[in-house]
Amino acid sequence: MRAVGFTINGGQFSVFARPIPQPGPGEVLIEVAYAGVNFAELQHWRGDFGPAETDGDIPGLEAAGRVVALGDGVTGFDEGQAVTAYLPNFGGYAEYVVAPAAFTYAAKDLRLDSAAAAPTVLTTAYGALVGSGHLQPGDTVLIHAAAGGVGTAAAQIARALGAGTIIGTVGSAAKVEFARSFGYDHIVVRNEFPGTVSDLLDGAGIDVVLDPVGGATRAASIDLLAPFGRLVAFGDAGNHPDLTLPVQPLWKNNRMVGGFNIGHLARHAPQLVTRFGQAGLDLLQTGAVRIDITGEVPLADAKLALDQLAAGVNRGKLVLRVR
Ligand SMILES: NC(=O)c1ccc[n+]([C@@H]2O[C@H](COP(=O)([O-])OP(=O)(O)OC[C@H]3O[C@@H](n4cnc5c(N)ncnc54)[C@H](OP(=O)(O)O)[C@@H]3O)[C@@H](O)[C@H]2O)c1
Repeated sequence: MRAVGFTINGGQFSVFARPIPQPGPGEVLIEVAYAGVNFAELQHWRGDFGPAETDGDIPGLEAAGRVVALGDGVTGFDEGQAVTAYLPNFGGYAEYVVAPAAFTYAAKDLRLDSAAAAPTVLTTAYGALVGSGHLQPGDTVLIHAAAGGVGTAAAQIARALGAGTIIGTVGSAAKVEFARSFGYDHIVVRNEFPGTVSDLLDGAGIDVVLDPVGGATRAASIDLLAPFGRLVAFGDAGNHPDLTLPVQPLWKNNRMVGGFNIGHLARHAPQLVTRFGQAGLDLLQTGAVRIDITGEVPLADAKLALDQLAAGVNRGKLVLRVR
């Protein structure tokens, strides 16, 4: 099969020829039609997940296509069925991939490009809001990187779960209208944050913050929390030095800082990945959540998609067309 990857972190992307993988117990072999593109794949390529294997790393956290074969013990899927999967061990930038059956979902009536763009962002957005952020109906929510894959999904999931005011921040004015179309009440360009957000809230605090940006954005967001407000850190797109937080301001101000990490959850509480992923996909199936595919590139040009993420100019979701 054809796959795309790299042998040196940050190095050139190459097309590799690889044997078609075989599904082990509890796994599903998928013939990939589309692979979703995620910021985490940029981090993988840069080396944030460790050095590349000498024979090459194939990135790709999500893919959709048709079931080709089932490993021992797998039930509930038919050969030829359209599915989409979260891939905790990467490998989605390829013509075939093996996925845990527990993280493989029926694509039902979904287009395969939208399905491919769904499992990682929906699981992350749902898990960050509900699992870590303990979102309650009526809560005020602030979402950074509002126009991105996770950000566009998170606003819609928060709305579907009964959130009150939902505010997003974006890196540039060019993203404001796009982000607003996902149901945000207000979109603020990040260089006007936190001042504009404080003004909008008129002194009230925020109950749940989703923060994949880090740095000064994270520090300022903590200061905006309402009593018992929760900040969920789940990325560091800006590659800032880690925050060193004193604990005293947390207990003096009734604040909580938590985290979300889908890979850790897949290893230590896989049933929660399945639950959050299925809940997010159910909202996609009913139309409560939509995913906008803003760009499609051929598998061999995967690096072009990652370049857009590195430049921070992407909106919505990019996908790789594999066949
Ligand atoms: N912990 C987890 O389990 C988990 C899982 C999935 C994703 N994530 C994280 O969630 C975030 C969103 O992921 P995604 O795949 O949906 O990506 P995305 O939001 O579609 O794209 C990343 C966005 O990050 C923002 N950004 C801020 N500073 C940046 C910088 N210095 N360089 C580039 N971009 C910058 C940009 O939006 P603005 O222009 O609006 O700033 C950019 O569009 C990422 O940080 C990712 O690492 C975490």
